[in-house]
Amino acid sequence: MLDVPQIDTLDRILPEEPLLMMGAGPVPIPGPVAAANGIVINHLGGTMARIIGQVKTMARYIFQTETPWIVGVAGPGSAAMEMAVTNLVWADTKVLSVCNGFFSHRLSELARRAGGEIEELHVPDGTSADPGRIEEALARFRPEVMTIVQGETSNTTHNTALPEIARLAHQYDCQIIVDAVCTLSTMPLDMDEWGIDAVITGGQKGLSSIPGVSLVAFSERAWERLSHRPVPMPHWTLDATLATNFWHRASYHYTAPVSGLLALHEAMRLVCEETLPRRFERHRVSSEALQAGIEALGLQLYVKPEARLNSVVGIALPEDIASKSVCTHISERYRVEIAGSFGPPIIRIGQMGEQCRVHNLFRTLHALGSTFNDLRHPVDVPSGMAALENQLQRGQAGIDGV
Ligand SMILES: Cc1ncc(COP(=O)(O)O)c(C=O)c1O
Repeated sequence: MLDVPQIDTLDRILPEEPLLMMGAGPVPIPGPVAAANGIVINHLGGTMARIIGQVKTMARYIFQTETPWIVGVAGPGSAAMEMAVTNLVWADTKVLSVCNGFFSHRLSELARRAGGEIEELHVPDGTSADPGRIEEALARFRPEVMTIVQGETSNTTHNTALPEIARLAHQYDCQIIVDAVCTLSTMPLDMDEWGIDAVITGGQKGLSSIPGVSLVAFSERAWERLSHRPVPMPHWTLDATLATNFWHRASYHYTAPVSGLLALHEAMRLVCEETLPRRFERHRVSSEALQAGIEALGLQLYVKPEARLNSVVGIALPEDIASKSVCTHISERYRVEIAGSFGPPIIRIGQMGEQCRVHNLFRTLHALGSTFNDLRHPVDVPSGMAALENQLQRGQAGIDGV
């Protein structure tokens, strides 16, 4: 028999004071979400069926859709991406993948692995996808499916023309899969009105739930396509039609992540309680105030305003500083966690869900400015804090809860 391993208790591993999670996700979770995450119930039966019914109802509001075809997956945002892509793509399906950065490339890779014939449309770093270029590709390549992100978390760009791009996809009879993992409930996304065929989200970002339980909403058109696949779905767990056993018939597909679903229920209930218009406004005001504060420190934002994502703010790094030094110092010294990057020389601060609260903004901006000063790259902390306060005062009139 092997020796019993020596294991530290969690309190010897975790920091004494919890870190403030201001990176690109996971984000802080509200009390009711944390409490729900500590409960285990039967994954089948009347109680769970009622909870799932409410999760679907709330999802329809949050995705702005009347589709019945909401399904969840026990897995990260990437599992929801894989569910959307592999159900709609099979051998030789022509797929146009709009690539703005790391996560949109992942959609392309998933479609390739599903057997699709892929054309990637590369969007220059830090800009939004251009509908003119997309129309040219639609007309020439005639894809059956298009993949695109609403917000590219990796380089903090926003595909602002998404409604027009979705309209073009329809015009060319192409189904459009949209990754809203970092944007859902932080900014408008109108699935039915815009004509989106599949929307993907994770729990740990805009919704302020935990990672590991994700959702996909399919349009009627998408459901029609995936229900008539010429070949069976290669992934049994990610098969959207099998997922309806649990999501529509209160019966067994696999053992559902019960605690995570309860947490997601609570996170979505809080979104509904706040209402989408007020939540969008809270995110806008909070993110714009943070951006103003960062610029007043003397730092530069990575993306120009016309393509800038509000949900995750990218800060261009001065040449003399490495992202790892900033992220390590701000975490160890100020107990604030921010993110480095997958690609460009930036650091990133999240503005999703619970991150968009005044106390979190002040603490984060102060910690950021002090970190640069500590690292001997002087910035103007008082001006930064004043700009944050001024911008918040201006924006806050008329909204609560920032
Ligand atoms: C836009 C986007 N898509 C997909 C993902 C993947 O989500 P996960 O890491 O939960 O698999 C992320 C994660 O950061 C993301 O930001």
